[in-house]
Amino acid sequence: MLDQRRLPAEVVHHTYTDYRDVAGAIRSMVIRGAPAIGVAAAMGVALGVLRSPARTPEELQAEFSLICATLAQTRPTAADLFWALERMKRRFEQETRAADARDLSRIRSAMAAEAQQIHAEKKAADEALGRFGAELMPAAGQVMTQCNTGALATAGIGTALGVICTAFEQGRKLRVLVPETRPYLQGARLTAWELRESGVPLTLITDNMVGHFLKTGKVGAVVVGADRIAANGDTANKIGTYPMAVLAHEHGVPFYVAAPLSTFDLSIPSGEHIPIEERPAEEVTHLQGVRIAPEVDVANPAFDVTPARLITAMITERGVARPPYTESLQRLIEVSAEKRPPARAPAP
Ligand code: MRU
Repeated sequence: MLDQRRLPAEVVHHTYTDYRDVAGAIRSMVIRGAPAIGVAAAMGVALGVLRSPARTPEELQAEFSLICATLAQTRPTAADLFWALERMKRRFEQETRAADARDLSRIRSAMAAEAQQIHAEKKAADEALGRFGAELMPAAGQVMTQCNTGALATAGIGTALGVICTAFEQGRKLRVLVPETRPYLQGARLTAWELRESGVPLTLITDNMVGHFLKTGKVGAVVVGADRIAANGDTANKIGTYPMAVLAHEHGVPFYVAAPLSTFDLSIPSGEHIPIEERPAEEVTHLQGVRIAPEVDVANPAFDVTPARLITAMITERGVARPPYTESLQRLIEVSAEKRPPARAPAP
């Protein structure tokens, strides 16, 4: 894993051989971004099963449950995490029901294959999503995003940032307004780094400049990612997304959410049911290890929920959903469940 905590100052990779360390890496944000968390968790499950000392299916079953529970207790808001764990569980159950279920090596390689399949599917989903979203971007001018939703945050080109980069590669003359995204600075550290590496023009701003630029900056669109989207379209994303959506609405700027179907949680009717992760106080009181605030009470919710009514459209790998989301999201998921070939946006 590329250690995202140390970017952009240092490029450091870690190799994990124990699923507990993968869980630790997810919790401590070595890797972050909902889709990347999902893929990392799937790989963590595969690693746990491959390295398990179990000698019977029963022993492996007991360890499998522990592996999944450990990985599930890392980032509570990211729907992709639970989606990926469910998928690994389904495959495990299938394999342990099979006629030669006592052949543990077959189960082990099936779990590794499933994690790699998830990785490949997520990469393809990003590309399809990027093409659908690019069509919604202005031909030229400024677009705003939030947090980091690029290649670092997924298994492919990214979601919201993938949309922007795809549009840029197609010839749209875009400049990206990147809020620094306090407290963890995913915008300043990661998005600014990724955009600079890919040659997309950007302007870094502080979070409290968002309203000013939405009012005066001729912003053509806002595109953000998501951590969990409820059945009615209410969307949890990085803290600061909700005020950005309110301000975009106030100033008539289209507000798009870009996310793969694995981020949608249609089992919950609305955003009120989305668990919001509370992160350590040190992320607020310290900057790069240096205390910047006295010892006081601190709140650090990692995400906020944007009500569906503020979202102009949702961009997925299956196409673009528009309000009312309760119907349009259900339709998209049903199409996906039928396993129809992915709808393609026209080639650039
Ligand atoms: O706390 P983080 O950095 O994991 O939060 C990331 C976000 O909020 C992203 O917008 C979201 O996960 C989508 S990433 C493609």
